[in-house]
Amino acid sequence: MKDTALRIADFKDSIFGVISRLAREHGAVNLGQGFPDFDGPEWLKDIAYRKMQEGHNQYAPFPGSISLRTEVSNYYKSLYALSYDPETQITITVGATEAIYVVINALVNPGDEVVVLEPFYDSYVASIKMAGGIPVPVTMHAPDFTVDKGELARAITPRTKLLILNNPHNPTGKVWSRQELLDVCELAIKNDLYLLSDEVYEFLLFDGAKHLPTATFEGMLERTITVSSAGKTFGLTGWKIGWICANERVTRACRLIHQYVTFSVSTPIQEAVAEGLKRLPSYLPGFVELYKSKRDFFHRELTGLGFDFKIPPGTYFMMVPIGSKTKLSDVDFALKLIQDNKVATVPPSAFYLKSRDGERYLRFCFAKKEETLRQAATNLKGL
Ligand SMILES: Cc1ncc(COP(=O)(O)O)c(C=O)c1O
Repeated sequence: MKDTALRIADFKDSIFGVISRLAREHGAVNLGQGFPDFDGPEWLKDIAYRKMQEGHNQYAPFPGSISLRTEVSNYYKSLYALSYDPETQITITVGATEAIYVVINALVNPGDEVVVLEPFYDSYVASIKMAGGIPVPVTMHAPDFTVDKGELARAITPRTKLLILNNPHNPTGKVWSRQELLDVCELAIKNDLYLLSDEVYEFLLFDGAKHLPTATFEGMLERTITVSSAGKTFGLTGWKIGWICANERVTRACRLIHQYVTFSVSTPIQEAVAEGLKRLPSYLPGFVELYKSKRDFFHRELTGLGFDFKIPPGTYFMMVPIGSKTKLSDVDFALKLIQDNKVATVPPSAFYLKSRDGERYLRFCFAKKEETLRQAATNLKGL
């Protein structure tokens, strides 16, 4: 038999799948993969069921159902004063993951360079490689995960086409400051780059932090492609509804790819998410409070166990330094915790191409029932 495609020759099984399988095999509490172990809101599930009963069951229009595109447009307008035309500037995808693949493949030619800030969400690099592009990593330096502006400037070359930013940031829980965003935007404008802004955790900000969409910065609306998703916001990651907001030209290019990758996305679930987005103002305060209490609880537990780190201002992840507990690398320590302590985490070195910083951390996901978090903390006692 002939070989499979070269473009995937160095791809491995995603770290999330590997950890979840090991967690199952060892009966470990799974704080690895980023999804809640509790269900999303009953009212939204009821709406989805009703939408099926009402007959929203055939293919949706390929750019997305118009009701969902309209509601996406409405919330960008009311929350961020951003105007996106649902007809020509918003596309619905199978989660943010498809959105990322589509945007990268719509923009990147073979040999083009794409700057990724590491640690990164792992699908960025895979999508860049599938497009034939070259990922150029720039490290967010521990412990505050800051980017050195000079280092970022030096990573940009005449072949750089795109820069990818994730805010709030997985896996660190960092929320980028206005000044940090200004610095990145200044370089994007100066070098005429597109900027893919992955904002899937836009509503998971704590302690009064405010989300600053990259597209709202001066000179950035045209060059920013914003990607987000309903999965995190409604705690329904399996619904896989995401979207791309971009200028007309980029939207057209994205749709040309999307039509041949998935064609269209689940109709009743899009209709339900549209209703969900209408209720954001009443839904969000309780949602944020729920995750804040989980974050505070688990941070207290981990610091009580001797882990020393700042409480993250966003997302549902904690990047926890392990140096005080072990000389092992992140991967070996993560395996040991699964086997000996029955707690599964993600070793973040999988999210780096250049720096070895990830070897000194583990990522914990606190989007779990309190009893799950309590059990994990109990299992980690005596480390
Ligand atoms: C930073 C980031 N981007 C994108 C995604 C993918 O989102 P979705 O489940 O909507 O495909 C995730 C999921 O964990 C994520 O953490």
